[in-house]
Amino acid sequence: MFLALCACLMAGVQSHAIDLLPTFGDIDHIHLPALLVQHADGDQSLQLRAQDTTYTDNAQYMETVIATKDLVQPFYVTIHVRQWKAVEITETWYDISHTEKKPVRLQRYDSGYLPINGDNPHLLHLHGNWAAEGVPTVEPLTRGVKAIRNSDGARNAHLDAPEVMIALDGVPQENYGRVLGAALCWSGNFELRVAATDEKGFHFYAGIDPMASEYILEPKKVFSTPHLAYTWSNEGMGGVSRAFHRWARTCGMLHNGNATRDILLNSWEGIYFDITEERILAMMNDIASFGGELFVMDDGWFGAKYQRNSDNAALGDWVVDTRKLPNGLKALTDAAKDRHIKFGIWIEPEATNTLSELYEKHPDCVLQERNRELKLGRGGTQLVLDMTNPKVQDFVFSIVDDLLTKHPEIAYIKWDANASIQNCGSTYLPRDKQSNLYVDYHLGLVKTLERIRAKYPNVVIQNCASGGGRANYGLMPYFDEFWVSDNNDALQRVYIQWGTSYFFPSNAMAQHIGGSPYLMTGRTTPIKFRCDVAMSGRLGMELQPAHMTDEERAQCTVAFADYKELRPLIQLGNLYRLVSPYEPVPVVEKQQVASLLYVNDAKDHAVLFAYGLSSFMKQSSRRIRLAGLDPDRTYTLHEKNIRVAYHHDRNAWGEGEPCELDGKSFTGAYLMSVGLDIPLSTEYNIDYPSRIFELK
Ligand code: GLA
Repeated sequence: MFLALCACLMAGVQSHAIDLLPTFGDIDHIHLPALLVQHADGDQSLQLRAQDTTYTDNAQYMETVIATKDLVQPFYVTIHVRQWKAVEITETWYDISHTEKKPVRLQRYDSGYLPINGDNPHLLHLHGNWAAEGVPTVEPLTRGVKAIRNSDGARNAHLDAPEVMIALDGVPQENYGRVLGAALCWSGNFELRVAATDEKGFHFYAGIDPMASEYILEPKKVFSTPHLAYTWSNEGMGGVSRAFHRWARTCGMLHNGNATRDILLNSWEGIYFDITEERILAMMNDIASFGGELFVMDDGWFGAKYQRNSDNAALGDWVVDTRKLPNGLKALTDAAKDRHIKFGIWIEPEATNTLSELYEKHPDCVLQERNRELKLGRGGTQLVLDMTNPKVQDFVFSIVDDLLTKHPEIAYIKWDANASIQNCGSTYLPRDKQSNLYVDYHLGLVKTLERIRAKYPNVVIQNCASGGGRANYGLMPYFDEFWVSDNNDALQRVYIQWGTSYFFPSNAMAQHIGGSPYLMTGRTTPIKFRCDVAMSGRLGMELQPAHMTDEERAQCTVAFADYKELRPLIQLGNLYRLVSPYEPVPVVEKQQVASLLYVNDAKDHAVLFAYGLSSFMKQSSRRIRLAGLDPDRTYTLHEKNIRVAYHHDRNAWGEGEPCELDGKSFTGAYLMSVGLDIPLSTEYNIDYPSRIFELK
């Protein structure tokens, strides 16, 4: 791939840049334009020719920069191709500028273009919704244009997500086959297109969605498109995922990417808006008693004139509600310190409610269409702030800055975003630049996050948007993790986490043990299953511990202790997905299973997760073949988070008996070719059986 790319680059230098950037006015009938502009004088053509090529070669990457100019207009595009050295990921983007007499209208401005040549290409893309994120859809690519797009405005990973895989030779496989993986590093509206306009092959384009987003570019200003990151793997989808995970962790695409994250309790599903100091202190006691490390106070803690007792008021009024917390945040951060845990807090800084002091005083601070009625979001009152406005950016910065200046003990922020852009207008942007809004919103957001990170590099910040609505590489560099989903039903979480892991690393994936029966689905799942499912990523809890049974408390205590030992492996290891929950089986006859494994770089330490998803008597079990191990090494299995049992001699719950595989040794070759019969039988077991093994 690298050589082919170099050849393209050289061709681009000598002639025109179509191989890297097809432009309207310079393309054959086969290509679609990746760049289409209307010049100041009305001319719509663009014939870019290379002027100069420079190379950067440093310890981290090689970057080729091709400066191009239009044959006629003073219009310039600088093409960047950055190839990372530690990982097979290439990033491409364009810097667009001009010195024409008046603004130029960018009507289509993709980030990258790739030709795809495969005999039977198949597309995998992630679809989903609130509480049901990351569902993979696989389909053959056929003639015509297939587009994946999102026009939420503020978030872009619910519904369709800005990452795809394209397998060249049929349905993509997990561990073999040629697969392209691509992610548009952008948090706003996007459009990814695969076009088959002739018999020769397919063409992939990725960029900002041009719908209602004609970008008005002033002379001498530079517009940089978002980066398109892509990789080629011969190791199937697993190879693509591992490349993205490594890139996220080691190339600055995930904030503090190489660090592990704490075990936390989040207050939301335990007490919702019913925050009181007493309840918060009790929850802190609980998480500390299980061995957890962080407590996060979610929505409901703020508001003066308007109280935050439901989702319809007080966003924007970021002062402590002293009716609920008479001793303020200081009492809480002190209490956390006394319990040797850290303290975190929820905010939704880009939003307000019509019922808020902020909105009463500054009605101009929200996105709004002149002379039209406001369309209201969550709670019937929510509005999105105008992040194109530098004053609003300052305000959003000050929310975090004030909190962290007054309370430097705050170690964690959950940054939420629960509204889409429904009012596509800005009182800040001039009338002739309203179509810059969808783009400038995100540029303003990123600018604000950059300021926050420059001043507060160490506070852990979670990226949340009604769950996983903002799981994208546009925002990931500023966040340490993201909330995978508002749905904590352990069964559905297996599926949600599976799809999400295609592109995102486990230390970024916040996975919480929920209550049972679970409030959204009514499903009852055993505490061990809930722990085991949450333990495959960044472990946390999202329930009211006061409602837990002694058995549940005991299991969580075992889970937390084992997780701490396994944490570097789980959060920073190389992921091998072994058996997909999506794999079709004759369900009564054969057990539906999901299994995954993390291995360290030295391949001498691994952890295996196996989940039974369907339970029928006399079902045959599935043999699970491992992957990613050293075939010549011998591994000994140690069962972890063993199901607790009641010990009558001690009158207490404690770890029960491990299964028969515990202590057994196998070679890597055996584990990968013959595999394991993991006891997930339902005959003497409960519904939703699961096992975790450490391999050393
Ligand atoms: C969103 C988040 C939840 C919770 C609520 C609070 O829905 O995804 O986790 O924080 O907001 O209002």
